[in-house]
Amino acid sequence: MHKSFDLFFVSSNNHKYQEAKIILDSLGINLGFFKSNLEEIQSNSLHNIAMAKARDAFSKFKKPIIIEDDGLFIDSIDGFPGPYSSYVFKTIGNKGILNLLKNNRKANFISIITYCDKTNLQSFEGKLNGKISKTLKGKGWGYDPIFIPNNSVKTFAEMNNKNELSHRFKALKKFSKWYLHK
Ligand code: IMP
Repeated sequence: MHKSFDLFFVSSNNHKYQEAKIILDSLGINLGFFKSNLEEIQSNSLHNIAMAKARDAFSKFKKPIIIEDDGLFIDSIDGFPGPYSSYVFKTIGNKGILNLLKNNRKANFISIITYCDKTNLQSFEGKLNGKISKTLKGKGWGYDPIFIPNNSVKTFAEMNNKNELSHRFKALKKFSKWYLHK
């Protein structure tokens, strides 16, 4: 049987969709998926990148959509890689990041969720403070094996409750409050 959805997540990343689906299910929103590579503009602002992606996604699928843009911001290297997190992951990867860091390992993960339909373009930000581990720990996607949220001794990759506290959870929770009352 075909299931119908009111809202679609547009991304090339299955992991992000799986997590967003679990989170939004728990908040009472049923989320479909369009797997697609979206336009990624060069910008220092995650918000501007997210808005461009959302416009591109809506113009392709003509349905209410959300997209996500994330950045890992590391204090001791002036917030790098930030908006360049995807490129840095593909090039130097987690090991390259570990090689760049010494004592100060503070970092934060930011998620921007942007909703777009015919009349709305609205963004929601979730920020999670933490630090970068000294070695790779656990098997997870992206930066999960090196990011340790505050008040945890485990990396995202080692945790079983990432979806209850992540940057993605925080942004989607804000989004859900707005979406369910709009
Ligand atoms: P993007 O530009 O939004 O795709 O994300 C920037 C980079 O951060 C990509 O390399 C993602 O794989 C990575 N990333 C985003 N969210 C997470 C997460 O929850 N865990 C691990 N890596 C992530």
